Amino acid sequence: MVEAPTQPYAGRLVNIEKYFGPVCALKNINLDIGRNEIVGLIGDNGAGKSTLIKIITGVFPPTSGQLYVAGRRVNFKKYSVKRAHAHGIETVYQDRSLGEKQVLWRNFFIGRQITLPFGFINVRKEKEIANEIMLTTIGFRGKGITVDSKVSVLSGGERQGVAIGRAMHFQAELIILDEPTTALSLKEVRKVLNFVHKIKEGGKACIYISHDIQDVYEISDRFVILDRGQIVASILKEEISLKALDEFLLEYAHGLKDKEDS
Ligand SMILES: Nc1ncnc2c1ncn2[C@@H]1O[C@H](COP(=O)(O)OP(=O)(O)O)[C@@H](O)[C@H]1O
Ligand SMILES: [Mg+2]
Repeated sequence: MVEAPTQPYAGRLVNIEKYFGPVCALKNINLDIGRNEIVGLIGDNGAGKSTLIKIITGVFPPTSGQLYVAGRRVNFKKYSVKRAHAHGIETVYQDRSLGEKQVLWRNFFIGRQITLPFGFINVRKEKEIANEIMLTTIGFRGKGITVDSKVSVLSGGERQGVAIGRAMHFQAELIILDEPTTALSLKEVRKVLNFVHKIKEGGKACIYISHDIQDVYEISDRFVILDRGQIVASILKEEISLKALDEFLLEYAHGLKDKEDS
């Protein structure tokens, strides 16, 4: 059964601008992220991708412009990473999302403990839920990894999986992955990509940033290309092949170079 969407988008950016002193990092950013859309955000180093993500996730406010999350306008005076979480926005970074020495099940409940009447943590319940997330959402089966394993025994890809599984279980509406596959093995990259497929199947939205165009192509519904702080193209996957996208990006880069040379 398909539920009728109450909001057409998970996030909407209107005329977002961001200056760092005199440096303009973002300009005229107008972008809607659909409620069940996977957006591949592409751009060279310094294009402004992470800055855009940081505004959405409450790290810092824009210089001007508006952000809407699930249909409600965000008040930047009160917005923060914690608020973004409460609004269903989760970010998965390379390695930094989990505590190394912690056992896995505890990682699922940081900041949202299930307690018993006397305030004790309901360990049994938390482990049960963590186990369920691992089996259903993440798909860890028969690998010797249990809810009692320490984070330090997990590979990079598995850690990303836990962070994504956690975000999915707690019903994050928009999951943002900013270069999650940098320094991962091919096998681990495959896992991260499969997790993004699951975000799509789970009816949620995602912004995925990577330099690997082939990866971005596989998982995205749409490609948004950022160049020196501005969105220069928004292309639906159904409108372009991987080869054509690759050529477009190359030609675009060459066009810029020619302009600089002349
Ligand atoms: N905290 C900051 N202070 C000053 N300048 C910054 C800061 N963060 C990013 N920038 C600048 O903003 C531009 C965009 O950076 P960034 O968003 O990190 O790009 P990307 O993630 O696409 O590589 C760059 O010119 C960068 O130097
Ligand atoms: Mg970046």
